[in-house]
Amino acid sequence: MSDTLTLRRPDDWHLHLRDGDMLRAVLPETARHFARAIIMPNLVPPVVTGAQASAYRDRILAALPEGTAFEPLMTLYLAEDTDPEDVAAAHASGLVKAVKLYPAGATTNSASGVSHFDRVRPVLEKMAEIGLPLCVHGEVTASDVDIFDREAVFIDRVLDPIRRATPGLRVVMEHITTSDAVEYARAQGDDLGATITTHHLVINRNHILAGGIKPHYYCLPVAKRESHRLALRAAATSGEERFFLGTDSAPHTDANKLLPCGCAGCFTATNTMSILAHVFEEEGALDRLEGFTSLNGPGFYGLPVNEESLTLRKGESVTYPKQIDTNDGPVTVFDPGFPLSWRVETV
Ligand code: NCD
Ligand code: ZN
Repeated sequence: MSDTLTLRRPDDWHLHLRDGDMLRAVLPETARHFARAIIMPNLVPPVVTGAQASAYRDRILAALPEGTAFEPLMTLYLAEDTDPEDVAAAHASGLVKAVKLYPAGATTNSASGVSHFDRVRPVLEKMAEIGLPLCVHGEVTASDVDIFDREAVFIDRVLDPIRRATPGLRVVMEHITTSDAVEYARAQGDDLGATITTHHLVINRNHILAGGIKPHYYCLPVAKRESHRLALRAAATSGEERFFLGTDSAPHTDANKLLPCGCAGCFTATNTMSILAHVFEEEGALDRLEGFTSLNGPGFYGLPVNEESLTLRKGESVTYPKQIDTNDGPVTVFDPGFPLSWRVETV
């Protein structure tokens, strides 16, 4: 078997870059390997308007290391007072590639998200009309719903009703974590896509909770039991076009992770491609890695695939920095818990 694998340069269809010093510290980790990324808008305050997205895009481009080619694909944060005309204008200008729905209180910086879904109906209808995708954080927030059931309950109570009420709305189920989500996605038409993270292909809930609590494996949606991880691996490596990579790489400083009430998020930008090559090789699906990282996402978003390539070479064990330094302190890089042997050749 060949020990090199050349792919079209990958894209990341769900990424948190933050702002300011953190943005400057983490952006090179993604831009080193990825050509484009869908940029999450959950800043404080959130990126709600086209003007805010435009200013954020400028800050990202200004933070890029000299000579790096990387295209941030901007999103708007759906709030109950989002103006459909502003969304349409931001889409028409080419600035915005998706709108992000966070149920209020579901995750980090989601306080301005949606509580009353009927209030965002005009925006969703406008999006269906103009073909602008809705990226959905698919978890209910009701305190009486067990955290491990929140994705499956969201599909029944929120996602499916929204889709039925808004024919033509293109939806991305983001960072799916359950076999329920895989099954639901598979039963839909080509107006539904689903992203899968790197870490949910590697960890299950035992990694977080058995033998001592591991805050660096805590993210939202939280990793589920092993049978769900296996369903995600089968989906990611299946070659089905609706499944594509969204790392959800979400940097938090160790000081904010290692607390009595620590933040949710795994930081995988640095070693994602090496981990994915390992996972796809284990599944006998190295020939499908390019579809997952480089073809299916552009297909769903109606964007051209990248012309540049990225080469992975298998060899001695690959090491990555354990932490990325930021002015606010270190951010720990996701540890897959096994040695990596696929190295990304410098591009
Ligand atoms: C994300 C973050 O830190 O912004 N955290 C996470 O655990 N994934 C928010 C999110 O995407 O839910
Ligand atoms: Zn996210």
